[in-house]
Amino acid sequence: MKYRYSDQEEIDLSVLHIRKRRRLDGTIGIQGSKNAVLPVMAASLLHRGITVLSHVPAIEDVFCMMEILEWLGCSCRLEEHCLTIDASGASMLPVPDTMAGRMRSSIMLLGPMLGRFGEAKTSRPGGCPIGKRPIGLHLAALKKMGVRVRTEGEHISASVLKLTGARIHLDYPSVGATENIIMAAAAAEGVTVLTGAAREPEIEILCRFLASAGADISGTGSDRLMIRGGRTLHDTAFAIPGDRIVAGTYLGALLCAGGQVLLREAPAEHMAECIRTARAAGAFVEVRPDGLFASIKGRPEAFSLVTGPYPGFPTDLQSVMLAAASVADGESLIQENVFENRFCAAKELQKLGAHIIINGRMARVTGRSSLCGGRVQAEDLRGGAALAAAGLAADGPVRICGYGHIRRGYEDICRDLQDAGAEIWLEEQTEDAGCDREEEADGASGSRGSSAAAGNCGPVHEDYNHYGDGQ
Ligand code: EPZ
Repeated sequence: MKYRYSDQEEIDLSVLHIRKRRRLDGTIGIQGSKNAVLPVMAASLLHRGITVLSHVPAIEDVFCMMEILEWLGCSCRLEEHCLTIDASGASMLPVPDTMAGRMRSSIMLLGPMLGRFGEAKTSRPGGCPIGKRPIGLHLAALKKMGVRVRTEGEHISASVLKLTGARIHLDYPSVGATENIIMAAAAAEGVTVLTGAAREPEIEILCRFLASAGADISGTGSDRLMIRGGRTLHDTAFAIPGDRIVAGTYLGALLCAGGQVLLREAPAEHMAECIRTARAAGAFVEVRPDGLFASIKGRPEAFSLVTGPYPGFPTDLQSVMLAAASVADGESLIQENVFENRFCAAKELQKLGAHIIINGRMARVTGRSSLCGGRVQAEDLRGGAALAAAGLAADGPVRICGYGHIRRGYEDICRDLQDAGAEIWLEEQTEDAGCDREEEADGASGSRGSSAAAGNCGPVHEDYNHYGDGQ
């Protein structure tokens, strides 16, 4: 079955319904990792041949990246989670705003396009409105490799006569900037030494993918990478590991609903901080050969967490833990240190009865035994998934609008939670699905580097952003 990315103009009015709270009991198969497969797909441009990726999640962001690669002349075929990319016929074309603006990952094409074509034209990336999300670290690093960059409004033009290896230090371990540098360095002439690199598992996966295609990278998994560029890459087949954030989302859902789940093929080795926090909240969590088993009898105990770069607690799981804290026994403290606008889910959780007080980077949550039913709006990917988890702890029916955000990163959250016994279903988009187009349109806009205003969920803390755009 060939998947196609839905047209950007469509505002997804589908509604996620959860009938009422119910303890979970079942096995959930964990999809391939969104944040690993997207840079790997971009990196496939560096090779004038075939790349075969298995365990690829059938999610909107993958379909969008396929569409961009096809626009650039690649052929892409996704069948039963196996993606075959033939990049032999690729050529430089400006990436249209409508494609680049749909997701953050479009910025990951800068490095590979410069490495392959010596030129790149795209627009400021989209993605979740969780902060300003500037790209100065990306641009500053590429300039050190000889790249000339021009930005005019939303548009970014970059060109280089000879991409050259360089010594680069990142003042902040930006995941995307690290990925762009690695991909450019793989094509550059000479050696690149990158210090201050991000250490998220997705970086290690990208390095392993490039090495499987013939790249020479050392220091994988550390914050100091050395890339000897200029090697000719070859065809490769690569398996995408399980999605640690999807697995962590369902661990958070278990804390909300109670019960037990087996998260099959969950990458437990990349979930240490998430597992530690779930245990601190009273869950029994066991790493098994076939995945991660977790159970909890009653409500979770109150907990505290601080998000930060890996191996710290992942910011992508902050929203679902806000939901779990809403039904914990006691007062929980959650500090968000990565994105200045990532407490959006709080105001929606409050509509379900959650007691959450936000003060700058800190959320103080006083748990209650259960939440109440209601209608809420997803405004970003992980916030939307957190609302689904919260619905599992509500005494009455919950309706979640903005499903379009959720399907960007979760292949089928209904199927997954139904497999664990939840009473959840999707009402495909209908005019009278009970979500307003205007409201949905507001919620569905990409971030495009926009300010926190998109989410209007809190003050923008300049000190979150480590580089502006004008580098
Ligand atoms: C990646 O985003 C992930 N996205 C995000 O997941 C994840 O939350 C984030 O890393 C942090 O782990 C993908 O991999 C597609 P960053 P990225 O550059 O690369 C600031 C999800 O839900 N910054 O590490 O954009 C930035 O504003 C998504 O799956 C600059 O100031 O993250 C933020 O405050 C959401 N200047 C912080 O660094 C720059 O040039 C972290 O950003 C770049 C970033």
